[in-house]
Amino acid sequence: MAKTYDYLFKLLLIGDSGVGKTCLLFRFSEDAFNTTFISTIGIDFKIRTIEMDGKKIKLQIWDTAGQERFRTITTAYYRGAMGIMLVYDITNEKSFDNIKNWIRNIEEHASSDVERMVLGNKCDMNDKRQVSKERGEKLAIDFGIKFLETSAKSSINVEEVSPGPGPSPCGPVKITESRSKKSFFRCTLL
Ligand code: GTP
Ligand code: MG
Repeated sequence: MAKTYDYLFKLLLIGDSGVGKTCLLFRFSEDAFNTTFISTIGIDFKIRTIEMDGKKIKLQIWDTAGQERFRTITTAYYRGAMGIMLVYDITNEKSFDNIKNWIRNIEEHASSDVERMVLGNKCDMNDKRQVSKERGEKLAIDFGIKFLETSAKSSINVEEVSPGPGPSPCGPVKITESRSKKSFFRCTLL
């Protein structure tokens, strides 16, 4: 059967339960949002194919359950990921503190050259904010990871989320911009 894509890029979403991983993926894949919280059981994935310079790039995005009881299943998926997005909720201090533990999980279970990105989600809820943008940025700089605040609800920075090149935070890399080509191609499997 003919291949329907030129490159395949495997991404993984991790972070505490309720931070909005499934909603971010839903916004990215369907451009929709749901306020009902249906906690993910185990693992789920969505596919979106984008086109860049005439090449079809298939994004396979794995959405993990944040709940502790699924940890054995979800960590099994780290190894195959080329990019991992660590999500916290800006209205939930605990979810931010836990990012350090999620980073440790990546160090233990993912491949060493995996691209990482920290996402502070729910930035539409500024009135309930517990974690300042500066703290998010500082954590990302300390660990040499890229950082963005996002909102699945208001569709802020969702399209911009894409693992870029290099160890330092280099800001948003738009999937549709050709500068992201290098980073994609660096990490893709033919
Ligand atoms: P687990 O599957 O248990 O790991 O949780 P999750 O991280 O997938 O959380 P989910 O995406 O299911 O979202 C949890 C709750 O947060 C839901 O009620 C969402 O509607 C809400 N939510 C998610 N993203 C946002 C956002 O950007 N803004 C606001 N205001 N609410 C959000
Ligand atoms: Mg979920």
